[in-house]
Amino acid sequence: MKVVKKITEVREEIRKARCKGKSIGLVPTMGFLHSGHLSLVRESVSGCTFTVVSIFVNPTQFGKSEDYGTYPRDIQRDLMMLKKERVDLVFTPSVEEMYRQDAETYVIVDKLSRVLEGRFRPSHFRGVCTIVCKLFNIVMPDRAYFGWKDAQQLVVIKKMVEDLNIPVEVVGCPTVREKDGLAASSRNVYIKDKDKEKALSLYKGLKKIEETFLKKKLKDSGALIRIGKKVIEKYPDVKLQYLKIVSMDNLAPIKRIEGKVLVLGAIKLSSVRLIDNVILTCR
Ligand code: PAF
Repeated sequence: MKVVKKITEVREEIRKARCKGKSIGLVPTMGFLHSGHLSLVRESVSGCTFTVVSIFVNPTQFGKSEDYGTYPRDIQRDLMMLKKERVDLVFTPSVEEMYRQDAETYVIVDKLSRVLEGRFRPSHFRGVCTIVCKLFNIVMPDRAYFGWKDAQQLVVIKKMVEDLNIPVEVVGCPTVREKDGLAASSRNVYIKDKDKEKALSLYKGLKKIEETFLKKKLKDSGALIRIGKKVIEKYPDVKLQYLKIVSMDNLAPIKRIEGKVLVLGAIKLSSVRLIDNVILTCR
């Protein structure tokens, strides 16, 4: 496993891999790796013959009052984890390497970035799309792997790839959960033990919606959302930011469930913000 910091070094490694006829898989991450990231890495290692993992805490996707400065970082631990996974190349650039001081170009997926998360994090997806587009241009992977945990991010990136004709297959991988059901996330370290139960409220609400949909065959979104909200409202310290049922393709609100839909939400627990979702399939 090679670890490089410079864009020129990545390009050289990719050139050599391409000469050997390898297929390239990219797993973009912000580090502080967990079981969710490892599932993406494993998917890439099994589907491609050369896997690149990038580790970069991307400043442009954090809002001014967000946690860029305190975002958890442990590069040595990350590298140890990746070594065990047959990763070929790890890219750990500095901020200066990724963003020239005079940079003024951003990638914006317009409408999809303004709904749901976008209402609470107005410049977030602009930062995500810009860095992911840059990583695609640097690595030029055949496939890139993202988790369904960040469902809106996945939909936005798919749209960017389609709109800009980027020759990469975006692969969405299932959410990995801790034993209690909490979706794996680097930010879970912020949750104090005493708040674990409260942090699970969103997932409990989502599960209740899923259960009602499956058992009672209830397909009315409004009714399902009310049922989910009731579960979350039992926790007075939890502030629900949104809970919605939307199309998996374009995040448009859904009134009556048909085909596959996303139920997604966000909560705030003191200063910790958590997102999660489940997918419902109507057969
Ligand atoms: O999902 C993440 O960790 C980040 O948003 C990503 C895709 C690595 C871009 O910085």
